Amino acid sequence: MSPENTFDLIVIGSGPGGYVAAIRGAQLGLKTALIEKSKTLGGTCLNVGCIPSKALLHSTEMYHFAGHGAAENGIDLTNLSFSVEKMMAKKDKTVSQLCGGVQALMKANKVKVFAGSGQLEGEGKVRVSGEQDELLEAKHIIIATGSSVIELPFLKFDGETVVGSTEAIAFDKVPEKLAVVGAGAIGLELGSVWARLGSKVTVVEFLPAVAPNYDKDVSKMAERLFKKQGLEFYLGTKVTGVKKEKGKTFLTAEKGEDPIEIEADKILVAVGRKPFTEGLGLDKVGITPNQKGQIEVDAHFKTAVPGIYAIGDVIPGPMLAHKAEEEGVACVERIVGQAGHVNYDAIPNVIYTEPEIAGVGITETIAKDKGIAVKTGKFNFIANGRAIASDATDGFVKVIADKETDKLLGVQIIGKNASELIAAAVTHIEYGGSAEDLGRTVHAHPTLSEAMKEAALAVDKNAIHSV
Ligand code: NAI
Repeated sequence: MSPENTFDLIVIGSGPGGYVAAIRGAQLGLKTALIEKSKTLGGTCLNVGCIPSKALLHSTEMYHFAGHGAAENGIDLTNLSFSVEKMMAKKDKTVSQLCGGVQALMKANKVKVFAGSGQLEGEGKVRVSGEQDELLEAKHIIIATGSSVIELPFLKFDGETVVGSTEAIAFDKVPEKLAVVGAGAIGLELGSVWARLGSKVTVVEFLPAVAPNYDKDVSKMAERLFKKQGLEFYLGTKVTGVKKEKGKTFLTAEKGEDPIEIEADKILVAVGRKPFTEGLGLDKVGITPNQKGQIEVDAHFKTAVPGIYAIGDVIPGPMLAHKAEEEGVACVERIVGQAGHVNYDAIPNVIYTEPEIAGVGITETIAKDKGIAVKTGKFNFIANGRAIASDATDGFVKVIADKETDKLLGVQIIGKNASELIAAAVTHIEYGGSAEDLGRTVHAHPTLSEAMKEAALAVDKNAIHSV
């Protein structure tokens, strides 16, 4: 093997898990290679996931504010209009800026990037094929190949009417009627984007709640607020397929015994993602994915094969960019003998709707299921000065603490800027803080963050601004 194709570390996949692992490897003195099959670096998150969807959420939120909130703030915006083409161009610019940024980071850290698909060829060897054709060698290989969308067998993607999130962030015009399958993160975020631009959005969810991973009170409020924004929901409803009749398309479903037909120009299927390991050659090296298609790893992110590690969406756990990043760092630190660690009890989860929904730690429902005795505190944004001044009174903060020890176990927020507010709760959980610690921490006034302090105080009925 030529020295230029011999590395200490090879990372397959350049998403947030892979590229961060590569940077950390280089920082720790490992000669590192990164393999990516797509034209640009950054994986799903930067190219077709987190980043482009946030650009569209931002653009459409501004449009929505201009049409609905500006006037009462004394701003006259008559003759308001929007251009889908320009919004998409802004989104594409955001994506290319960030993907270019990752490329620059690789260069700055002297990570060698190979363009092509990586395939395991026995211990320590990876074949790159595609734009480049090379055989690489390394003592350590990290699989960071991410995930792909789940397709429902009775609702196959056709690239035109029945689509996944990649297509739904790139519609060239506003669909008159958009049906969304799944009221999780993608369904709610992209449903909101198109609803704000005038689509009649109908969301069908199998479980009986909107954002079903959150507590019932959060889900209920989300349902009420999104309905006010024009989204229609069929909850506890089973999708059965798609029907075409007289040039029209219908999503078919069943709620109990009742058949439902929803007319739609586009049907977005957002029912989750599955690990992506196609063509990786796992069988060649003796790695067998579990029933969910995930690669099982130990606490050091080691697979069953020495020298091969896996991180991010391909391994069990929440499919979140920041979880993958932390695993990338921890995995490489373990490789060099450091004590890298991921605290799975303190991984925030966010749905970037308006208002946003965010959570960290356990919910009250999970606590009950696990038999953990908890006490909870809640504070509504309607009683927060900054929220009133900023037209942000919808929502609340809910704090969940251990009944005996007061240890902070979880926080959920539905409200403006929940994605940023949750960071304080993450920090408190990370350091093993109590609800009282959070309640006694000084928060700037006036800020939305005071609602979190008050919710923590409310755990022991000490909230100041509650009636
Ligand atoms: P998800 O798991 O968040 O939501 C899927 C929803 O579809 C669930 O509520 C589920 O009950 C429902 N569902 C499943 N099968 C169904 C069926 N046959 N009919 C009706 N409903 C059905 O998955 P989503 O939204 O597709 O996102 C994929 C992944 O990407 C998730 O792991 C998510 O966490 C991640 N993601 C994270 C984002 C964020 O952090 N803001 C944004 C987008 C995605």
